[in-house]
Amino acid sequence: MSAALVVLAAGSGTRVGAGINKVLLPLGDGTVLGHSLRTALAVPDVRRIVVVVRPGDEEATAEAIRPVLGTGEVLLVPGGATRHASEYAALQVLRAEIESGEIDVVALHDAARPLASPELYAAVLAAAREHGGALPAFPLRDLSTRELRLVAGPLVAVQTPQAFRAGPLLAAYLRAEEDGFEGTDTAACLEMYAGEIRIAAVPGSPLNLKITFPEDVAVAERLLA
Ligand code: CTP
Ligand code: MG
Repeated sequence: MSAALVVLAAGSGTRVGAGINKVLLPLGDGTVLGHSLRTALAVPDVRRIVVVVRPGDEEATAEAIRPVLGTGEVLLVPGGATRHASEYAALQVLRAEIESGEIDVVALHDAARPLASPELYAAVLAAAREHGGALPAFPLRDLSTRELRLVAGPLVAVQTPQAFRAGPLLAAYLRAEEDGFEGTDTAACLEMYAGEIRIAAVPGSPLNLKITFPEDVAVAERLLA
């Protein structure tokens, strides 16, 4: 049994407003997506890595990936109009290996979080195997954090990677497809369609910044340096 990782890069980055998909912007010695993929490639015991690409970005994506790929293998999958649709596209590609049991757990990550660590992936994968699902949560210290959710009481910022047992994850997305349901993140879809799954919180990190607005690019650059 082994894991699959999905790196979601098929957005357009309208809020950053760079004129190109924000995951293709330069960061450090490469790009935002390059950093995200380098981290994914460093996670142990991974059977598949899927990068979900915005149609039209194929060439630029291949270029961003090339410097970090080494001997690694990555499946490039065309994304959809929403994050949820992009997740579903990745799960379709993994479907046979999920149904055969070769992939037992899947972690889904926003390429727009280039500073996540391999250890964070490992933590959510382990917690998902144990509990059913897992997400990084980070207690709020101020009100500037933009992604808020209530998880078992305290106000926390929810991050990615989020990981789930592969069977219930696929089943939830197949049911969401029938209903036309679109979740804002993976956990939202599981909460809707796999209520029996426990979603555990693992410690997130303030360093696991999500690039959402133009100023976040400079912050990521500084955090990296
Ligand atoms: N994403 C995706 N497919 C989409 C939309 C988003 O794969 N149709 C990915 C983005 O590439 C990003 C992550 O989901 O890594 C989180 O989405 P978000 O931060 O909203 O990125 P964008 O949708 O690109 O940005 P914006 O909403 O500002 O346009
Ligand atoms: Mg978006």
